Amino acid sequence: MKAYFKIVFILSMAFALFACKSNNIKVETIEDGIKISLVPQKKFLLLPIEDKIKEMASVVTVDAKVVANYNLCLAQKQIDYYMPLDISQWKGKTLEIKVVGLSLDALSLKELKQSDDFEYDYAETYRPSYHFTPPYGWMNDPNGMVYYKGQYHLFYQWNPFGSRWENMTWGHATSRDLLIWDNHNGAILPDTLGTIFSGSAVADIYNTSGLQKGEEKVLLAFYTYHKTVGDTYEQSQGLAYSNNAGKNWNKYAKNPIITKSGFKDFRDPKVVWHEDSQKWVMLLSVDHYIEIYSSSNAIDWTLESDFGKNQGAHTGQWECPDLFELKVENSNESKWVLICNINPGGVHGGSATQYFIGNFDGKTFTNQSTPSDVKWLDWGKDFYAAVTWGNAPQNRHIGIAWMSNWEYGKEVPSKYFRSAMTVPRQFTLVKTQSDYTLFNYPSSEVADLRKRSKKIDNLIVDRECNVDNICQNTTGAFEIVFDVANISSEVFGFKLYNNKGQFSDIYFNIPEKKIWVDRRNSGKVDFSENFSSLVYGPLEIKNNYQIRILVDKASIELFEGNGQVSMTNIVFPDEAYNRLSFYSKGGTCEIKNLTIYELAK
Ligand code: FRU
Repeated sequence: MKAYFKIVFILSMAFALFACKSNNIKVETIEDGIKISLVPQKKFLLLPIEDKIKEMASVVTVDAKVVANYNLCLAQKQIDYYMPLDISQWKGKTLEIKVVGLSLDALSLKELKQSDDFEYDYAETYRPSYHFTPPYGWMNDPNGMVYYKGQYHLFYQWNPFGSRWENMTWGHATSRDLLIWDNHNGAILPDTLGTIFSGSAVADIYNTSGLQKGEEKVLLAFYTYHKTVGDTYEQSQGLAYSNNAGKNWNKYAKNPIITKSGFKDFRDPKVVWHEDSQKWVMLLSVDHYIEIYSSSNAIDWTLESDFGKNQGAHTGQWECPDLFELKVENSNESKWVLICNINPGGVHGGSATQYFIGNFDGKTFTNQSTPSDVKWLDWGKDFYAAVTWGNAPQNRHIGIAWMSNWEYGKEVPSKYFRSAMTVPRQFTLVKTQSDYTLFNYPSSEVADLRKRSKKIDNLIVDRECNVDNICQNTTGAFEIVFDVANISSEVFGFKLYNNKGQFSDIYFNIPEKKIWVDRRNSGKVDFSENFSSLVYGPLEIKNNYQIRILVDKASIELFEGNGQVSMTNIVFPDEAYNRLSFYSKGGTCEIKNLTIYELAK
C-alpha cells in the first residue's frame, strides 16, 4: 500500500515538471499541497486570485528562510483578478511558496507570472471619485491617524493579496487637505508575532519613548498582533516607530508591549496624550468593554481602570475605541467623548459606532448619561470603526469611518478593491436641553470639491416634482443641498433615480419623527441577504430643515442640519443616479435654495 502511494507521488512529481512555466517558475506537488519555486528576476510575482474560494495557508521562504506567512486564494478554476507580490528585494535568490490545499491542476499554477508592471482597472465601475479607497485589495478600518508636519497620515487595514479580508497589514496614505491622498502602500507588515490589526499613532514630540534618533520627532504606531493558534487566536499589542516622519517604520525590538491572558479579543489600541497628568493613555477593547492604561514612556503600560461593562449597547464585540476632549459649542465647558464601535449589535444590524459623553481624569472615564442610554454617531448601515486624527491643527476633531458593514462588506460587487472610507467628518459637541450630542458633519475641506453648480428655483411640492439631468457629466459624484420650509406634509422626501429606474429613497416622516433611507431598489442588492435595507434616523420636529447629501457613485451620505443626524449608506446602481424626484404626502412643502454641485478632486 505504501509503495502504491510512493508511485502515485513520483508520478505526480513527474507531471509537475510539465506544469513548469517558461518564465522560470517551477511547480511541484508536496505532501499537503504545492511548492512553487522561482528565482526572482522582475519586480512582481503576479498571483492569479479566485475571489470566493477558501484561503490557503502559504509559507514564503527565501533561500530556505521563512519570510512571510499568508493566506492566499490562488485560483483553482477561475481567475477573478491578479494581485502582486513584490519580489524585487529577492532578485537572484531562491523564492519558494508552499501552498497547503492547492491542487496541481489549479489554473493559477499555469498563469503565475513575473512582471515588472502590475496593471489593474483603477477606474472600475464602483470606484468612487472623491472618497479614499485602497489602490487594490481589501480595506477595512482607518488606523494610525495622526497629523504631523502638515500631513494627515491615514493607515488602513489592508489585504494586499485579495479583495476579501485576510493578511492584515497597515496600508498607508498621506494628505495635506484630507481630499487628495498619496498612497504609500504597506507600512507595517505581518511578522512572526502575527498579522497587524487596528490601532493608532502619535507624534512623541517630547521623546518620552527615547526612540527619537536625530532631529526628527519620532512617530509611534500602536497596533494589535493577531496570531492564529490551532482553532483559536491570540492578540497582543505591538509598537512600531518612524524616525523619518512616517516614511519607514521599524518594529520595536521587544514586542509585544502588552499581553493579556484569558481573553482572546484584546485589541485596537488608541493612544492619546493626557495633558493634565502628563501621561500617555491607551484604550483597548476587551470583549465587550474597554480597558484604560497609562504610561510615561509609551512603552511600559499600567492598567488603570475599565469602562463599559454595563454601559451602552452590548450585543457584540466592542472594537476600535477613541477618546478626546471637546469644547461644548457656544460655551466654556469641555467634555470627554469616548467612541466605541460595536459589531454585531449596531443600530440597524451588523456594525455601527456608539459614543459616550462624560469626564476623564487620566485614569477613569465616567459616563454622565444613564448607563443604558445608547448614542449612535451615524444612523446608516455603513459607518464603522470611526476614529479621529490625533494632533490635528486648531484642535480640530476630524474623524473618518470605514464605509461598509461587516454584515456584507466582503460581498460587495467591486473587484480589484473593496470598500471606501467616508468623507472626513468634523465632530462638534452640542448641548441640548438635557443632554449632549456629538454632531457629525463633513469637514470644511469637503466643500473644496465643488465644481460646476446648478441652482434651481424654489419648488412647491404637492405630490411630485422632478429635476432631470442633475449633472452634465456621468461620474455620479455630486452634492445636493436644500432647505425644506412651509411644511404641511406628513411625509416629504425625494428619490434619486438612474436611467434604469433604480432609485434610493430618502424621506422624512413627521408623525413618526423619523428620517428613512430605503435602498431596497437602489441597484444591485442581492449579493448578500443583509444588504437590501430600509433604515431610520431620529427626526426633530422643526419648521425648517437643512439637508445636505453627498453622492459618489456607490455611496450616499446624508446630513440634517449641522450634522445632528448623519446617515451613511452604500449603494450599487447599475448606472449613476442622475434624476431627483421630490414628493410630498398629506400636504405640501417648499424646497428652497436647491443647489446641485458636481464634485471632483
Ligand atoms: C474592526 C476590526 C478590529 C480589528 C480589525 C481587523 O473592524 O474587527 O477590531 O482590529 O477589524 O481587521
